[in-house]
Amino acid sequence: MLDLLRWTTQHFAERGIDTPRLDAECLLAFALGCDRLALYVNHDRPVDDGERARFRDLVRERAASRVPVALLVGEREFWSLRLRVTRDVLVPRPDTETLVAAALDLFPDREAELAVLDVGTGSGAIALAIASERPKARVTATDVSAPALAVARDNAERLGLAGRIRLAEGPLFEPVAGERFDLVVSNPPYVALRDAASLAPELAHEPRGALFAGADGTDVLRAFAAQVREALAPDGAALVELDPAQADTVAAWLAAADLREVRTHRDMAGRARVVAARRRE
Ligand SMILES: C[S@@+](CC[C@H](N)C(=O)[O-])C[C@H]1O[C@@H](n2cnc3c(N)ncnc32)[C@H](O)[C@@H]1O
Repeated sequence: MLDLLRWTTQHFAERGIDTPRLDAECLLAFALGCDRLALYVNHDRPVDDGERARFRDLVRERAASRVPVALLVGEREFWSLRLRVTRDVLVPRPDTETLVAAALDLFPDREAELAVLDVGTGSGAIALAIASERPKARVTATDVSAPALAVARDNAERLGLAGRIRLAEGPLFEPVAGERFDLVVSNPPYVALRDAASLAPELAHEPRGALFAGADGTDVLRAFAAQVREALAPDGAALVELDPAQADTVAAWLAAADLREVRTHRDMAGRARVVAARRRE
């Protein structure tokens, strides 16, 4: 088993994959139906022909087609929640945990009965993380993609959170017109179309509508900033994820929309990743 791991790690590294050892471990564990630790604990366990063939197919998909590991194994961990992912949703990124942490910091009372809105929920990652941390919150999660909402529904059910999540289809604030929320969060598409040719090949396996938002990537961010105030209750807070290069622009848009306390939050790498603002009457 360790030989298989060594060979695959080298193969992935030669193909330019960023995390060759980790990817090899995840795929071998998936092919064998065990966890990564078991690969080392039971390293002398024989690998039968069926398992070997299954692993070989996964390695080929990863190395040749650059399919992300999360899509090959059908799940990804986010905020310690195990989420199902398919090609209909963005694979949740660790950067997005910055947004969850900042949102929870703004509303530190675990027992608060918050009305929360997650715009562009995808797999449900942000909505479910907040629902899991604030057990009395009522969370509405929207998306323009019906297939994405089906994945979010499945994840909510698997995590036992479906009773507190309402899913609604439509663009931005349209599905919740006239409603007010204490907390509005969003990780909208924000990749610039003009950068499409230079992106990692893995992104080709994720939905274009989850990634791209116009030539410079700000189409959805601009509309979000212009409309979010109407969806906020008095003292409500909005937090939006973005590319670090967009942070100053979006902060200025939020201030221009009469929101206060506009702040930037940095991700683990120290890059501006989230802009937050509050409605103060
Ligand atoms: C970057 S993904 C984020 C998914 C998830 N929230 C996460 O953080 O992993 C953006 C999501 O927004 C949805 N979306 C794109 N444009 C939208 C719009 N105008 N209104 C609502 N959702 C939108 C996409 O379908 C996609 O699921």
